[in-house]
Amino acid sequence: MEPLQLSQEVKKRRTFAIISHPDAGKTTLTEKLLLYAGMVRTAGMVKGRKNRKGASSDWMQMEQERGISITASAMQFHYKDSVINVLDTPGHQDFSEDTYRTLTAADSAVMVIDAAKGVEPQTRKLFTVCRMRGIPILTFINKLDLPGQEPLDVIAEVEEVLGIQATPVNWPIGQGKHFVGVYDRFLDTVVTFERISIGGSKKAVAKTYAIEEAVQSGAVSPEQATELRDELELLDEAGNPFDQEAFLAGTLTPVFFGSALTNFGVEPFFDHFTELAPCPRPRSATRGEDHCSVDPFSSAFSGYVFKVQANMDPRHRDSMAYIRVCSGRFERDIVVKHDRSNKDIRLSRSHSMFGGERVTLDNAFAGDIIGVVNPGVFAIGDSVSADGLLSFAPMPKFPPEVIAEIRPSDVMRKKAFDKGMIQFRDEGAVLILEGITAHTQNPLMAAVGPLQFEVIQSRLQSEYKVASVIDTLPYSFGAWLLGDAETFSVSSGSMLARDARGNVIFLYAQEWQKGFALEKNPDHQLVDFLDG
Ligand code: G4P
Repeated sequence: MEPLQLSQEVKKRRTFAIISHPDAGKTTLTEKLLLYAGMVRTAGMVKGRKNRKGASSDWMQMEQERGISITASAMQFHYKDSVINVLDTPGHQDFSEDTYRTLTAADSAVMVIDAAKGVEPQTRKLFTVCRMRGIPILTFINKLDLPGQEPLDVIAEVEEVLGIQATPVNWPIGQGKHFVGVYDRFLDTVVTFERISIGGSKKAVAKTYAIEEAVQSGAVSPEQATELRDELELLDEAGNPFDQEAFLAGTLTPVFFGSALTNFGVEPFFDHFTELAPCPRPRSATRGEDHCSVDPFSSAFSGYVFKVQANMDPRHRDSMAYIRVCSGRFERDIVVKHDRSNKDIRLSRSHSMFGGERVTLDNAFAGDIIGVVNPGVFAIGDSVSADGLLSFAPMPKFPPEVIAEIRPSDVMRKKAFDKGMIQFRDEGAVLILEGITAHTQNPLMAAVGPLQFEVIQSRLQSEYKVASVIDTLPYSFGAWLLGDAETFSVSSGSMLARDARGNVIFLYAQEWQKGFALEKNPDHQLVDFLDG
C-alpha cells in the first residue's frame, strides 16, 4: 500500500468510547450516530434495552445489510468522511475492569451527562481513567427536552467536580418543552430543530439562521433571543476560550447541548466531533530497554491486546483476543511476533463477531479493533509487531471494589484448580492476589464488579472440571501501595495483598481507612490506578 493511502486511512479514523452513568443516554446517542451516519433508516433497533436477546439479531442483520462491522468490543462504520470505531464500554451491572481497559484503546471519549442529574459517580470513575491517560474528552449534555439544571450550572459542575476546563461549543436555546435548538459559537449560527417522529426515530428537520433571522422567522422568540444574547456575552467574557492543545491534552472539554431522544443538536455534535476529535496519535512503547513512540502512520503493523474474552461461543469454546491496531496495515493472514513469548503468530482467523456469527475481516489500520481467535498465547496487555520487540505501555491497574477468596470444593482437585488459577492470572481477566497479611493460603480475586467471579467459577468448572467455593471478603476498596510493604503498618479491617507482578495493594472496608492508613504511614503512598 502506498504511504499516502495509508496516511489517508489513518487520518479518517475516529476511535472513541462513550462514557456515562447508566441512563444518561449513551445507547440513545449511539443509535442516533447510526441514524445520522445513514446506517439505519429508523433508530430504535440498535439495542433492545428491555430485550437484549432480540438486539443481537438486530446487530447481525445490520452487519449483513449495512456493512457495519461489529466485534464484541467495537462497532465500525462510516460517518460522512470519517471511519468511526465506537468502543463498547458496558455500564450498569456489567461494569468491570474490561471497561477501564477498553478506554486504553480509545483516542478520544464522549462524556454524556444528563442535564438534570449532572456529574454522576460512574461518569466520574470513567473520567478519571481518561484523564489519567490524557484522552481528549468531548461532553454532550443530554436531555435538554426535559426540565433540568441551568446550563451554566451544569458547566460549573463539570469544571468543579471533574477539575477540567469546559468550553461550550454550542448553547441551548430554551429548555424543556421550550428547547428549540442550539447556538453554534464556532459558526455563529442558530440551528433550530423540529421533531418529526416520536422518539426521534427519524432525523429531525434542522434549519440554520443568523440570530435575527431566527427571530424574524418565528423559530426563536424575541425573549429567547434576548436571553441567548445575554448568555453568550457572559460566556465570551467569563468562559474559557477553546484551546485545541488543551483539549488534546485532556485538560479542556468542548461542551455540546442537545437531546439524543429528539435528535436536537445531535448532528451538529457529530459534525464537530469528527473535526475536533483526533485520529490515532503516536503511542508510547518500549523497544527492549528503550522508550519509544510508535507512529500510527508508519507502515509496520503493530497493536496490543486490550481484552480477552473466553467461551463466547459455546460451539467453539475458544477465547477471543481483541487487538487495537496502533500502526501499519493489518491484513488477514499476517504473521506477527508476540512480545511475551517471542513466537510467530499468524492472525488468520481475524473477524468481527456478534450473536455467534463471525464475519471475516481482511484489512485494518491504526485505530481499528480486530478480534482474533486466541491461540492460547494472548493475555491482556500483550503486544504484537513485526519483530516482537515492541511492547506498548502496560494496562492501568484499576481499583477493585469486590474481593473474594476462592478454593476448590474438593481438595482432591487442588492441582487442577491451581492450574486454572495460574491460567486466569496470566490472562489478566481478573486480578488474582496472594494475601500478605491474611490468614488464608487460598488465592484472592479482586474485581470491579462481582460478575467476573462468576465467570471464573464457570470457567473452572467447564475448562478444569473443578467446582469451587467463593467467600466474599469484607473489603470494598483497594489502593495500590507505593513504598516498602514490609514497613507499612496495617490496622484491623484492612489487609495487604500482592499481585503476580509483585505490586502490593491495600484492601480496606471503609472509605476513611485510606486517609487513616496514610496518616499512620506517612512515608508511603496509596494510588487508585497503577500503570503497569
Ligand atoms: P444508557 O445507555 O446511558 O443507559 O441510556 P439510554 O440511552 O438507554 O437512555 C436511558 C433512558 O433515557 C431511556 O428511556 C431513553 O429513552 C431516555 N433518553 C435518552 N436520551 C434522552 C433525551 O434526550 N431526552 C429524554 N427525554 N429521554 C432520553 P427509558 O424509558 O429507560 O427506555 P426506553 O423505554 O425509551 O427504551
